[in-house]
Formats: sequence, structure tokens, C-alpha cells
Amino acid sequence: MFSTNPYYTLTESVAPIFMQVFVITMIALIVLGTVMDMIHKKNVKYFFDNAKKAKKNAVKTLSTSERIKVLSKTVVSDIATTSELGAGKRRAAHVMGMYGTILFWISTVVMVFMYTSPSSVTPDIWPILWHVGGILTVLGGCWFWFFLRVDVYSEAQPWYRIIKADLFVLALIATSLFGIIWSYLQNMNLGNRWDDKVFLIFYVIANLILFGGVYWSKFAHMFYKPGAAIQKNLAEADGSRDNLPPEADGPEQFGLGIKREEPKHY
Ligand code: HEM
Repeated sequence: MFSTNPYYTLTESVAPIFMQVFVITMIALIVLGTVMDMIHKKNVKYFFDNAKKAKKNAVKTLSTSERIKVLSKTVVSDIATTSELGAGKRRAAHVMGMYGTILFWISTVVMVFMYTSPSSVTPDIWPILWHVGGILTVLGGCWFWFFLRVDVYSEAQPWYRIIKADLFVLALIATSLFGIIWSYLQNMNLGNRWDDKVFLIFYVIANLILFGGVYWSKFAHMFYKPGAAIQKNLAEADGSRDNLPPEADGPEQFGLGIKREEPKHY
């Protein structure tokens, strides 16, 4: 199963062009949902206005090499390893889900566009990356959703309470989970049985919800967060401090009470 391109097997019943059009439609839905979200929240306008204001408060003009240094640090630390989430389970779960998803999406695009023609032979690496990516996404996503999300971890809500904010993570888990089950059942060669077809339909529906729901879900954070991290680190380096007052020049003494409980009330 791990070395079988599920989309190639699917060409026995679905023409590659349909799969390719489906992928392009999903990409178009991401663009549409993100643009609608930006227009609705006006966050990009706020972001640039804020950056302009911060520039005026800068105490230092950064040279090109200093800017490159800040940008590289942001890419390596803030973006590639989501350092914003600190050292711990939250960050580990996010990194698993993030890289799992990236592998799953890239290998999907490669297999659907390059290895679905009758004469093509898929190198083993692509289906392996697809399955491993899917499994990582399910593990990271479930870890986050069942144990770490704020409602459960900090607010003591039961794990089965589902709200609109869960749309993104649940749709993300569902796409990978249904995709892997579909691939497994299809690989079992069950002939005309219904099993793999049902999971293919679930896989398609989960994708429609994930990509069609960008406007309503947290999907677009994967574009906003890197921009915000770059802005934050530049503001720290040029002294504008995001228009915040300077740090207090006092000792960090908060009393013993601060040690009573691990901070988890976000
Ligand atoms: C393919 C890329 C990414 C995927 C699949 C992804 C996935 C997720 C998921 C599933 C959540 C949980 C959402 C929820 O609260 O229900 C999340 C939260 C979060 N993500 Fe991402 N993410 C991606 C990229 C990024 C990037 C690039 C950054 C930062 C630069 C980032 C920072 C965060 C932060 C700070 C949270 C809040 C975590 C928390 O509440 O504990 N993400 N992400």
C-alpha cells in the first residue's frame, strides 16, 4: 500500500483530467476563501497601516544584511518550527501536523499531475511521502484536538464538544484519514465491493469542506502567521516594538504565587 500511487489505481474508473481539475478547483477555493477573508477582516490593511506606523517609531534603520538575518531567523525558527508555540507538546503536535500536511499536499499534486497517465511509473518515494504525510497529519491533528486545544486543555470542556473553530483541524484530520483508508481498501483489490468507493466519496467531501471552508475556518493562518512573525521580528530589531511602550526597567519579581500552577489560561 505504501508504495502504490492511489491516484494511478483510481484511473481504472476515473479519468486523470477529472482529478487534475479537482485539484485546481481546490487551489482556486483557497485563493477565493483567503481573499474573501482578507476583505472581510481587513487584516491586511491593518497589518500595513501598523507597519507604516511602526516604521516611524523605529530607533534604528536596518541594513540589508540585518534584514536578511532577521528574515532567515524568522523562516528557520518562527515559521519552519513554529517557535511561537514554545518548547513542548503544542509545538510538537503542530510541527507533526504541518509537515504531514505539506508532504500530503505536495505528493498529491505530483502524483495527480505527473503519474496518472497510462504509461507512467510512479517512483516509490511519492506514495510513501503521501501515506507518511497523511499519518503524521492524523496523529498531530488528533493529539492537538483531543488533548491540547484550549477548550479542553484550559477550559475543561469535554473533548467531544465541537464548535465552528474546530472546522479547520477536523477537516484536516478527516481528509488525511479518509484518504489513507481509501488507499488501503483500494489496494486490497476488493473488486466491485462498495468499501473503497464509500471512502473515496468521504475523501472528496472532506476535501470540499477543508478547501471550501477557508473563509469560515482557521485555514488562512498558515499565510498570516508567517507575515506577522516577520513583522514582529523586524519591529524588535529596529526598536519600533510594534508601537508598544518600552520594557519596564524593574526586576522580574512576581512573588511565589506564580509558581503554584503551570500557565495554561490563554
Ligand atoms: C501547512 C501549514 C500549516 C498547517 C497544516 C497548520 C495546522 C494547524 C492546525 C490544525 C492548528 C489548530 C487550529 C485550531 O486551533 O483548531 C494550527 C494552529 C496554529 N498554527 Fe498552524 N498550521 C500551518 C502553518 C502554520 C505556520 C506557518 C505557523 C506560524 C508561523 C502556524 C502557527 C500556528 C499557531 C500559533 C497556532 C495556534 C496553536 C494553538 O492554539 O495551540 N501554523 N495550525
